[in-house]
Order: sequence, then C-alpha cells, then structure tokens
Amino acid sequence: MSAAPFVVTGGASGIGSALAQRLRATNHEVLVLDLGRGSTLKDLIPTDLRDATAIVQVLDALPPRIAGIANVAGVPGTRPVADIMAVNFLAVRELSRLLASRIVAGGAIVCVSSITAHRCTWSDTALDAVIACEWDTLLGHEDVRALDGKHAYELSKRLLNMWVPLASAEFAELGVRVCSVSPGPVQTPILEDFETSIGKDHMHAVAELVGRHATPGEIAAVIEFLLSRDAAWVNGVDIRADGGLAAMRLAAGRCVR
Ligand code: NAI
Repeated sequence: MSAAPFVVTGGASGIGSALAQRLRATNHEVLVLDLGRGSTLKDLIPTDLRDATAIVQVLDALPPRIAGIANVAGVPGTRPVADIMAVNFLAVRELSRLLASRIVAGGAIVCVSSITAHRCTWSDTALDAVIACEWDTLLGHEDVRALDGKHAYELSKRLLNMWVPLASAEFAELGVRVCSVSPGPVQTPILEDFETSIGKDHMHAVAELVGRHATPGEIAAVIEFLLSRDAAWVNGVDIRADGGLAAMRLAAGRCVR
C-alpha cells in the first residue's frame, strides 16, 4: 500500500472508476470525490464539484499528504453551461490549487480533457480574457453565458488544455507535474449525451474510422502512467488518446479536429 492516497474525481463511473480499480489493484489507496448518488463505494467522499464552497469544505476530509490527483469528473454538453464550466474547468483548477502543496514531491496532477477542445473556435485574445477569471466572474462572463452546451463543453476543455502547462510551471517548485489526457469517444455512460450534443452520425463516423470507441480502461491506463514515477520526465503536456483518429483524418486529408 502506498503511503499516501490518490484523489480521483469522477471515480464513481466510467474512466474514473476504471482508474480507481487499476490503482487499487496495484495496492494504492484511492479517495473518490463524486456526487455519490446511490453509490456503494466505501472510499467515496460525496462532493458536488459545481459548488466552490463544497470544494473548500472537502479539504477537511482529505489527508495532509496525497500521492496525486486525477481530475476525471466531467459533464457533457447536454447540461447547463454553468455546470459544464464549473465541473470541467473551474473545479479542476480550484481543487488542484488547494491540494497541490499536499502532493508528495514527484507526484502529479492529471486532468481528463477531450479531443473536442480543438474544436473550440475562440481566438487567443478571447481565451486569454477568461482563463484567468475567478469562479463567479467566469460564470458571469457574457461570452460564456451566451454559449450553447456543445460550445461550452469545447471551451471548458480548451481552457483546461491551456491551463495545464501554466499549472505545471506554477507547481514545479513543489516537484509536482501536471498533464492532461484527451480521449476520443469512450464507451461510458456519458457517451449517450455526446450523441445528443455532438450528433449520432459524427460519433458513428469516428467509430468507423478507428474501428470502435475506446474502453474506459484504455484511457485509465494512460492516466495511471502519467500519475506514476515512470512519467517523471513528462510534464505540462496533453496526451491524445484517440486510437489514431487524428492520424487517420490527417492521412485522409481531412480536418484533424
Ligand atoms: P461518466 O459519466 O461515466 O463519469 C463522469 C463522472 O463525473 C461520474 O461519476 C459523475 O458522477 C461525475 N460527476 C459529474 N458531475 C459531477 C459533479 N458536479 N461533482 C462530482 N462529480 C461529478 O463519464 P466518463 O466518460 O467517465 O467521463 C470522464 C471524463 O472523460 C470527463 O471529464 C469527460 O468529459 C471526459 N471525456 C469522455 C469521453 C467519452 O466519450 N466518454 C470523451 C472525451 C472526454
């Protein structure tokens, strides 16, 4: 058993659950932060990541030293814009900032982004105007409030991709690495929502190109590697885990997004 536990958000389902299982199987302790509706997980600390106050309150329930954080929780574009921005970006940044100093040197923060981040059409100037905004300011920003769910999802993941290298610089003095993983479609409960917000035809075309959707375990394996000491020299980057989708689109002379 490792001395300090890993914190896994979204560990009650899908990719987060697969990651928690992999970590437990290698004798690591895991603390899951998730909504916890009807969950029987014994290591679950019920937390609503839409709520900045709940994130501060959960600190008391966490130990003084942790091995790393996997920010996996996320909501799709079928949900309200404020929830999308809060769970997919603001909560990741807030929880990571509040917990970074508790991570053992050599530990890591790994965030789950998405290949759809590259579909965000916001200019660098527009992105710069919101990335530094604190919680309420970002949620109240008129350009954010004007988005539909699909575009809010893309923006939330684009902001995450922008924040990861900034955070890796911010936490370097603690000896903590920060990386992200961008999956293509993964066979989890959220996929049905993506079919609604992105379109069934698009999702089927993607599966046809690479043969299938990813399994949660295939994405969890990449996260587990990035959390481990084997990834000591990987920092501030996004790893695309899309089964070669971008490569195949490129080879076919198509848009890689
Ligand atoms: P999932 O729906 O199986 O798991 C998401 C987890 O996040 C659930 O356990 C849910 O309870 C938790 N969660 C949602 N809102 C929460 C809140 N307010 N507070 C605390 N926990 C909350 O979906 P999946 O696929 O495992 O998603 C994991 C991550 O992967 C997400 O960030 C998602 O955006 C990302 N992703 C998923 C893809 C897919 O096709 N499944 C593709 C690309 C990215």
